[in-house]
Amino acid sequence: MIVLGIETSCDETAAAVVSDTRDAEHPWRVGSSVIASQVEIHREWGGVVPELASRQHVRDICGVVERALEEAGVDWPALDAVAVTQGPGLVGSLLVGVAFAKSLAASLGVPLVPVHHLAGHIESLVVENGTPPLPAVVLVVSGGHTSLYHVPAAGDYRLAGRTRDDAAGEAFDKVATLLGLEYPGGPVIDRLAREANDRAVAFPVARMTHADRNAGPPLARPAGFASALRGRTEFSFSGLKTAVKRHVAARLQQRDGAALPAAEVADICASFQRVVVEALLDRTFEAARWFGARSIGIAGGVSANSRLREAARRRSDEVGLPLQLPSLALATDNAAMIAAAGLRNLHAGMTASLDLNADASLPLEATPGDKPPKGAHSAPRRERRGAVGSPQADAGASGRSPV
Ligand code: KG4
Ligand code: ZN
Repeated sequence: MIVLGIETSCDETAAAVVSDTRDAEHPWRVGSSVIASQVEIHREWGGVVPELASRQHVRDICGVVERALEEAGVDWPALDAVAVTQGPGLVGSLLVGVAFAKSLAASLGVPLVPVHHLAGHIESLVVENGTPPLPAVVLVVSGGHTSLYHVPAAGDYRLAGRTRDDAAGEAFDKVATLLGLEYPGGPVIDRLAREANDRAVAFPVARMTHADRNAGPPLARPAGFASALRGRTEFSFSGLKTAVKRHVAARLQQRDGAALPAAEVADICASFQRVVVEALLDRTFEAARWFGARSIGIAGGVSANSRLREAARRRSDEVGLPLQLPSLALATDNAAMIAAAGLRNLHAGMTASLDLNADASLPLEATPGDKPPKGAHSAPRRERRGAVGSPQADAGASGRSPV
């Protein structure tokens, strides 16, 4: 089967053609993956401006889809389905992809397949590395999300932890802005931190030892999970961001407002990055131990971070657990991962009717016993109109905060 994937949840317009191989170990083959990045447009504003993003998606989507077909050497009639990111993300951006995919699926007479953006990030690992040893624990860490998933079987994603406030990528971007560095902040901080002293500033490590009013609804964890792991799989980055802000303000005051020397900025970057990486990996490896995981995955834009990759490899060697990381091309938003997750949904009979709507805070996991939404059909051909899923929405999954 050949699927066209479309991704427009944030600031990349992406399309890809992916087919299945019938090989369970390496189930997907990428024919093409085209991305039109809007980063230059948003850089001027220091973050993603939702209105500008959706307008640019409208401008780019036809050309991006045509190029994806051309590069894959595939004609319209060869497509067996159109998969699209339904959510979560910026609603105006999501709507462009969803409307385009619906029109295309209707005109080609092929199934429309809704995909959860984070399921896409998790599948990005399978696209390149093949099916991991299961159960796996996967950290999805990006500009809009920091969520830990327990994956007991292929395509079965169970939320095991999430951020209580900012996503890790958002923290990178905000810290870069307050240091006067360009957007997006992650790659710049990564680069500056390489030659710097990561112990120069002792930023605080967030400890989630007590209930928090931002904790969100309880997660659907297996029995015993809550007491055993309470507070150890949740993340918080807003306190760290505030600590960097206070530190910078104090230093500027000491210097009578004179800009900080480049070496000091780099030391702040390295110190901040060390704390983020340790927080991400401590919780991921703790969850892996608790779930008896046979592999670990890290996906999403922040998985491009060189220190995170290096430290994750070191820890995985230490505990003898295989680690999956995406290539840099598939770490940030792309449509190959959406087409791959779409193929998985298609095989599971999960297609949508033409009144599918974008959902800015779509939850990933459905809890057994949840009632399907009005109008949804159940197996063998599950159709999704609105959000299928539990009230246990991924609180950190409401899309990257606008400027
Ligand atoms: O997955 P992605 O493209 O979009 C979302 O779904 O959010 O992730 C973008 C995020 C941005 O916050 C960006 O700063 C961060 O990923 N990022 C990085 C690096 N490259 C991108 N963060 C840290 N280090 C990097 N090398
Ligand atoms: Zn993403």
